[in-house]
Amino acid sequence: MKGIILHGGYGTRLGPLTLSGPKQLLKIANKPMSQFALEDIKNAGINEIAIVIGDVYPEKVKDYYGNGSKFGLKITYISQDKPRGISHAVGLCKEFVGNDKFVVYLGDNIMRKDLNGFVKKFSSSTDDCMILLSEVDDPSRFGIAEFNNNNINKIIEKPKNTNSNLAVIGIYFFTNKIFEIIEKLKPSARGELEITDAIQLVLKNGYNLNYEKVTGWWKDTGTPEDIIHANKLILDNLKNYEKLNDNQKISIGKNSTISKDCCINGPIIIGDNCNIGSEVRLGPNVSIGNKVILKKCKIKNSLIMDNCIIDGSISLVDSIIDQNSEITTNVKINEIKLLLGQFSKIQI
Ligand code: TTP
Repeated sequence: MKGIILHGGYGTRLGPLTLSGPKQLLKIANKPMSQFALEDIKNAGINEIAIVIGDVYPEKVKDYYGNGSKFGLKITYISQDKPRGISHAVGLCKEFVGNDKFVVYLGDNIMRKDLNGFVKKFSSSTDDCMILLSEVDDPSRFGIAEFNNNNINKIIEKPKNTNSNLAVIGIYFFTNKIFEIIEKLKPSARGELEITDAIQLVLKNGYNLNYEKVTGWWKDTGTPEDIIHANKLILDNLKNYEKLNDNQKISIGKNSTISKDCCINGPIIIGDNCNIGSEVRLGPNVSIGNKVILKKCKIKNSLIMDNCIIDGSISLVDSIIDQNSEITTNVKINEIKLLLGQFSKIQI
């Protein structure tokens, strides 16, 4: 089998974080979100991957993943000029796929369960398409699979009324028959070739559509709130924590120093070469990148990316501070929620 990671789109819901790069390179728990997809695919035994890159700094994706050798993979890049839809992006991969079966993984989706079992099931089946379904609390926000007995009879996008709570998640398995279907699609009202329309046509044309339910969490990280939640979920599940105290999940990178009077409440990850100064209070659910300097501040449920400086009695909650930003204050600031793009500067 082959793998495809979708790395295009504009990521408008994540502005200003997506003004300086594609959202899929934003780090969650100190790892670019699309690397979770890449590692999942690799760990399922797939070595040939295409990454569909869009027009938001695509060179940053190529710089990071290169030809794939540092990840033990062979990576091909396929360009999509504009976000013309997930089906459009998949359609561009026809030549890459050839006669193989393949899995498509949206680069902003993260799944707790590994892909292995699903890959094995699909590669040994006669199915033309397999989708993964996850229970959701709010079906009106998702593409939902509706059932007749145990068979899917319809996929509806963001239904107002439905008796199903099973959302189609951003990991799809196809044979190359999907390309004939994509060629027949017409743009939706929002001008995109929709993946739900392609799956709906799989059903209508009488091809074999199968599904699996996903246990454990799955996260689509399209909004800042989703990223903050995904950060918590990933930190909760990180392995190899150094235990500073009983029941504390705290990971500290190389050459990082932490002042003795800091109060740290896991789960927390701190990158390399950080300086966590006196009176800092961190946690829970905090990711700190590399070369970050913190003084006197308090940070909870937040992500602070590489090379940031936060200096002063400010209490950050549910915040994302992108690379190379600086916050300094001489006054005390009670709980505040910030979303800062790269190279932001705040002085209070
Ligand atoms: P979306 O989250 O639906 O779209 P987006 O990334 O443009 O975000 P926003 O709505 O905030 O502007 O995309 C889902 C995934 O599919 C994401 O990883 C980007 C990818 N994608 C493409 O690669 N090409 C496309 O044409 C589209 C629409 C999405």
